[in-house]
Amino acid sequence: MRHLIDFGDLTRREWDELYARAGKIMDDPGSYIDACRGKVMASLFYEPSTRTNFSFQTAMLRLGGTVFGFADPSSSSVAKGETLKDTVKMVSGYADVIVMRTPWEGAAKAASLYSHVPVVNAGDGGHMHPTQTTADLTTITRLLGKVDHLSVGLCGDLKNGRTVHSLIKALAKFEDIRFFLISPRELAVPEYVRAFMQENGMPFTEVTGLEAVIPQLDVLYMTRIQRERFVDPLEYERNKGVYVLTRRKLERAKDKMLVMHPLPRVDEIAVDVDDDHRAVYFEQARYGMFARMSLLADLANQPRLDRTPAVEIGTKPVCRNPRCITRTQPYLPPLVKKNGGVDCCAFCDAALT
Ligand code: NCD
Repeated sequence: MRHLIDFGDLTRREWDELYARAGKIMDDPGSYIDACRGKVMASLFYEPSTRTNFSFQTAMLRLGGTVFGFADPSSSSVAKGETLKDTVKMVSGYADVIVMRTPWEGAAKAASLYSHVPVVNAGDGGHMHPTQTTADLTTITRLLGKVDHLSVGLCGDLKNGRTVHSLIKALAKFEDIRFFLISPRELAVPEYVRAFMQENGMPFTEVTGLEAVIPQLDVLYMTRIQRERFVDPLEYERNKGVYVLTRRKLERAKDKMLVMHPLPRVDEIAVDVDDDHRAVYFEQARYGMFARMSLLADLANQPRLDRTPAVEIGTKPVCRNPRCITRTQPYLPPLVKKNGGVDCCAFCDAALT
């Protein structure tokens, strides 16, 4: 693995190694205090973040490395109209690894074409968020002992929730997972995710109600309705507050079920659930730091490329997704990939037809 853009970039073996290292770090943090000594992480956050930004920063500091970057693009040259390509080329001259979060889908992949050092996708619009998945899988493995043979309920905004898309991609690498996709119909998983699940033989049931399926679940993964991604404010108004997990609803859940959430929470988990032994979302955030330490210990120590491969410049964007990075950065090559036999944009996964 050279970059982490999409969980599909990791083989199951690479994930097992990453998790094993995270386990060693948790059990004996002292043995990793110099793992990134002398290394520098660039942190480019074009979108708000608390956990992801802080956990990456503290991960690097705990490995003996240092961090620079911005959490507000208006303080960088982006505000003067610099392209993503130029920013990345330059930043990759200063740093050993780049961690970036953007509102544009496919932006981390675009950056990886031009970077001399590994790029980590810390969230690209409503598309993917693979390092949250490393936190999620670490949590499940530590607390349930395994990820295979589980019933997993994903609840909330499955259309715009990038953590859900990445988690589904990752769970394709495990055995016998049954999915309950719990969402309002208009916030169901995007077509490319559904095609991925069908192509990989991942059994799933789509439902709109949470209560009826709770008793069957080993993991309930709650998500926020992603207000900032709605083009139509009325669609948000219709769907906000649609799921609220309460103590009463939890009464029918298995005693060992995990209640997870990538956070931030708005109102989808009542505060009184926090004291239930099944609520693990704050631990999940802490596991995320260890998972990111494990990732950085590998990526920040990779050799820097002297030259990046030549990229054939596109002339006009072929992708019609208005949030795709190719729409705002038109020099990008028109890369295509297949999802479930359909031609899709290789940056944002949207179907090209
Ligand atoms: C998530 C994100 O940014 O996608 N948060 C996180 O990284 N922990 C979830 C969200 O914002 O709802």
